[in-house]
Amino acid sequence: MKGFCSVFVFLVILGSVRGDLKMGFYGSSCPKAEKIVQDYVSQHIPNAPSLAAALIRMHFHDCFVRGGPFWKVPTGRRDGVISVASEALAEIPAPFDNITVLIQNFANKSLDLKDLVLLSGAHTIGISHCTSFSNRLYNFTGVGDEDPTLDSEYAANLRSRKCRTQNDSTTKVEMDPGSRNTFDLSYYTLLLKRRGLFESDSALTRDSNTLALINQLLQGSLKNFFSEFALSMEKMGRIEVKTGTSGEIRKNCAVVNS
Ligand SMILES: *[C@@H]1O[C@H](CO)[C@@H](O)[C@H](O)[C@H]1NC(C)=O
Ligand SMILES: *[C@@H]1O[C@H](CO)[C@@H](O)[C@H](O)[C@H]1NC(C)=O
Ligand SMILES: *[C@@H]1O[C@H](CO)[C@@H](O)[C@H](O)[C@H]1NC(C)=O
Ligand SMILES: *[C@@H]1O[C@H](CO)[C@@H](O)[C@H](O)[C@H]1NC(C)=O
Repeated sequence: MKGFCSVFVFLVILGSVRGDLKMGFYGSSCPKAEKIVQDYVSQHIPNAPSLAAALIRMHFHDCFVRGGPFWKVPTGRRDGVISVASEALAEIPAPFDNITVLIQNFANKSLDLKDLVLLSGAHTIGISHCTSFSNRLYNFTGVGDEDPTLDSEYAANLRSRKCRTQNDSTTKVEMDPGSRNTFDLSYYTLLLKRRGLFESDSALTRDSNTLALINQLLQGSLKNFFSEFALSMEKMGRIEVKTGTSGEIRKNCAVVNS
């Protein structure tokens, strides 16, 4: 990702220091900016298997051409001047979170129940490591038990073919088996079969409000899912964004300027 980062630094240096997040922020200072980033991403990301990479890839409409969702990414965002790993981790929803924590976590960022259900839909693509859910397979309450909310056939399958020990930290498991490269509704179908991989997935089916939203999505079209997902992505993209003169422009994306 180093090159990707540098491209951004280059663009940002050319960008104006004033102004809000908007479409085409670099329009006059560097007209080709967004195209350069898009080209870089479409050239380099396809081989990167991580979910993060997949999400970045989806930011550009080459996916739309192949039938995935797309959304607008206004530019002009600046970097924070504080970077604390523990803080970042504490604010990101965890795969072990229950519905109360998930709702609170999203509400803290002005995201509602619908956003929670829609953004969880990103689990339709990508992979996870065993350690994010193996407690459900081996030792859910500390007595060597399985999570009763997980389909037992699926759990047995995961134990025998994927996560052979609870502490396996290397094996990769698809979150939406059978269609992990396709952005579709099958993640929601699996949730209703009690085959969501994480506790946070399973939690969505046991709250009447989130369950109703899942059913609504499943009754709607794929196109409807894409447009709803895109709206939530745009909403998430506007969370606590720094523009104008707040924050800074990092010289190295990974480190706060000294
Ligand atoms: C949800 O998780 C939090 C934090 O682990 C815990 O304090 C709370 O009791 C849990 N709520 C439910 C309903 O299990
Ligand atoms: C929500 O925000 C409050 C205040 O910043 C914080 O104390 C709390 O831990 C946050 N809750 C979650 C679940 O992120
Ligand atoms: C299951 O969890 C309990 C409590 O954390 C622990 O004491 C026990 O050793 C674990 N069992 C296995 C097989 O890891
Ligand atoms: C897995 O790791 C946990 C904590 O690191 C430890 O308590 C447990 O005994 C380990 N389980 C096995 C089966 O090795």
